[in-house]
This record gives sequence, C-alpha cells and structure tokens, in this order.
Amino acid sequence: MPVPLLDVNAQNLPLECEFKEAFERVLKSGQFILGPEIEHFEKQLATLLNVRHAISVSSGTDAILLALMALDIKAGDEVICPSFTFFATAGCIARTGATPVFVDSDPNSFNLNPQALIAKITQRTKVILPVHLFGQSVDLEPILRIAREHNLLVIEDAAQALGATYRDRSVGTFGAFGTFSFFPSKNLGGFGDSGLVSTNDNDLAEKAKLLRTHGSKPKYFHKVVGANFRMDPLQAALLAVKLPHYQSYSKKRRANADYYTNRLSALEGVQSGEMETVRRDPDQASEAKIILPSTSPDLGHIWNQYTLRVLGDGRRDQLKTHLTNLGIGTEIYYPVPLHQQECFAYLKSNHLDFPVANQLAREVLSIPIYPELSDEQKDEVIAGIGSFLN
Ligand SMILES: Cc1ncc(COP(=O)(O)O)c(C=O)c1O
Repeated sequence: MPVPLLDVNAQNLPLECEFKEAFERVLKSGQFILGPEIEHFEKQLATLLNVRHAISVSSGTDAILLALMALDIKAGDEVICPSFTFFATAGCIARTGATPVFVDSDPNSFNLNPQALIAKITQRTKVILPVHLFGQSVDLEPILRIAREHNLLVIEDAAQALGATYRDRSVGTFGAFGTFSFFPSKNLGGFGDSGLVSTNDNDLAEKAKLLRTHGSKPKYFHKVVGANFRMDPLQAALLAVKLPHYQSYSKKRRANADYYTNRLSALEGVQSGEMETVRRDPDQASEAKIILPSTSPDLGHIWNQYTLRVLGDGRRDQLKTHLTNLGIGTEIYYPVPLHQQECFAYLKSNHLDFPVANQLAREVLSIPIYPELSDEQKDEVIAGIGSFLN
C-alpha cells in the first residue's frame, strides 16, 4: 500500500458537498474582494487563537512581509531569525531592505536557540523573528525576555503551527504579530495560497489592514505604501468549512505522532529526542541511529511534521531512498540552511556559527503524519524504518 507524504483529497473530498455549497454562496453573492466571508473567517480565527485581531492575507509569506512593514522595518535595520527554517522567514526580511541575521538552532526542538541569540544583537537590531518549526512552539520565555531587555519587537512565524501552544496559550499571540499560512500542506490546508496575521495591538491591526489594501484610506488616498495582501472570499469560505474539523485533525495528528513514537522507540537504534546527551556519550554513540522528535509539556506540538534525525554520513539519504522504494513518501525540510543559500552569500555568514543547523540539514527526514493516515499505513512506515535498521 503506498503511503504518500500528504493526501489532501483524503481530507477534502469527504466535505465536497459543503465546499460546493460554499462556492455557490460566494458565486451568487458576487462579492469577490473582502466582505462578509472574510469577516466571518477572521472572527473564527480570532476565537480559535484567543487573540484580539486576526487579519487574513494572501499567503504565509505575505503575512511575514506585512508584519515587518507594519513595524516599519527597512534598509539599515537588522532582523534576527533562525537559519534552519523555510526560506520565506528570511526572504521577507530581505525584501523590506533590512538585513536577516541568522541564529543557530536547538538540537532537540530544531527551533531558534535563545542562548545563541544575544551575541547577534546589535544597535541595528529591531525585531526577533522566531519560527515555531514543524508545529512545535519555540521556547518563547527567554526570547520575550531578551526582547524586552533590548527593547526589540517579536514577530512569531507560526506558519506551521496554527493551534500549537506555549504554556497553554496559542502561539502567534505573544509577539507584536503572529503569522500563519494555509498552504495546502499546513494543518489547516487551503485551496491555493493564503495566510493570516494576528495581533493583540489595536494600532498595529489598523496599520496591517491599511497596508493590506495598498495603504489606501480613504480609497485612492495613500499615506503609506502598501500592497495587495488580501485573501479571497472564496478561500475564506472554503477554509471556514474545514475549521470546525480542525480540533479533530489536530487530535489525529497527535495520535499519529504518539503511535510512531511508541513503536519506533521500541526499535533497536532508535532513541527519543531528549536522549541527545546520551548520543554524545562516546560509549553509547554507536547505538543511536535515528533520533525521534522531542516534546515538552511547555512546547505544545501540533505535528505539522514528524521529523526524524538519521545519524551517520549519508544515512539520511539512504533511508529516504529505501522508503521511496517501498512507496513511502518523505521529505527533507530543509536540505540547505539559510546562511548557506546563494542569495544570502552577501551576508558573509560564518558557517562555523551554525553547527546545529548544518547538522540538521544533513540528518532530518520527515515522514507522513497527516490526520487521515491509517494504522496500516503507519505500520508500513514503521516496518520500512525497521527493515532499514536491520
Ligand atoms: C516556516 C514558514 N514560514 C513561512 C511560510 C510561508 O507560507 P506560504 O507558503 O503560505 O507563503 C511557510 C510555508 O511553507 C513556512 O513553513
């Protein structure tokens, strides 16, 4: 039985009738820019996140760009973000004219390492932009404290983490802005591109809304330069159909993660993420071949990805090939850390500053975790990993 990395139809087709109704409603409304569908969706998202303002936008990328623009980030400013993340995090910083300043990751959570942060702060630093990677909250407390101490703002890139929590509060609600994506592979996967910014600050919400429509207020009068960052009402109407199922999707992802963790950790050579220190012990080093993702009660995980670390030179790529041959989909998020990307060569980053990001790029492999996976499919993935280790 093939096990794809993602099966959007398995989630969407059972709701086909409701999607058709939503489409007809929008079609007959004749309202294709902003309006009630958008307002309804934004209200629902604000409730889900327990945040004052949820502002829908055209993509998760545009959400980051809009948040940076609303904070007046521009040429000459520096914005700190992790090196081990999706390109958009830093791409948006560069697009404002500001300089992305990369920080190494924590080897257990894969998220920005707060201890490596302070050394990167300069007079020009304006924003810290942590990412809740793979759906797991970044350890926010030290980051927010450092931001307060240095008078910096925080934007949380929660593109992969809608509904993840930090100490029981939704991520994306701690910083000046949170940014989200509804790209089809995300936990609330849409029908094309769309995203959202969240904020508890009334003035920032106003500014974000202004920038979302060319900075125009009233119409055709522009005090600031914005752009077209709007979500389509059709997208909002379709996403609203999926929203009531969101908690159930998340529950299934958590159950899938537990299923993997319980069974994979029983295999010889597989260790849980928290065992990193054990792996570093030379006596035990030979035993660990695969490390499972780590979790912690504080860092609520929404399991957008279940990401293994495969130890040993070239072993990750060998496991990927092995699973591909068995019909099992996997992906490497991400093979090249951002400090090594050609487009950021001008930053002249010292590659030795990023031992963890460099190592993760060689070791990570994400396996299927989508909610509709059957036990038989998960068993195939586990058996495939088992046969690789034997
Ligand atoms: C961490 C992160 N940031 C930003 C984005 C950008 O979101 P979008 O693809 O909706 O533009 C993504 C999406 O892949 C992401 O994973």
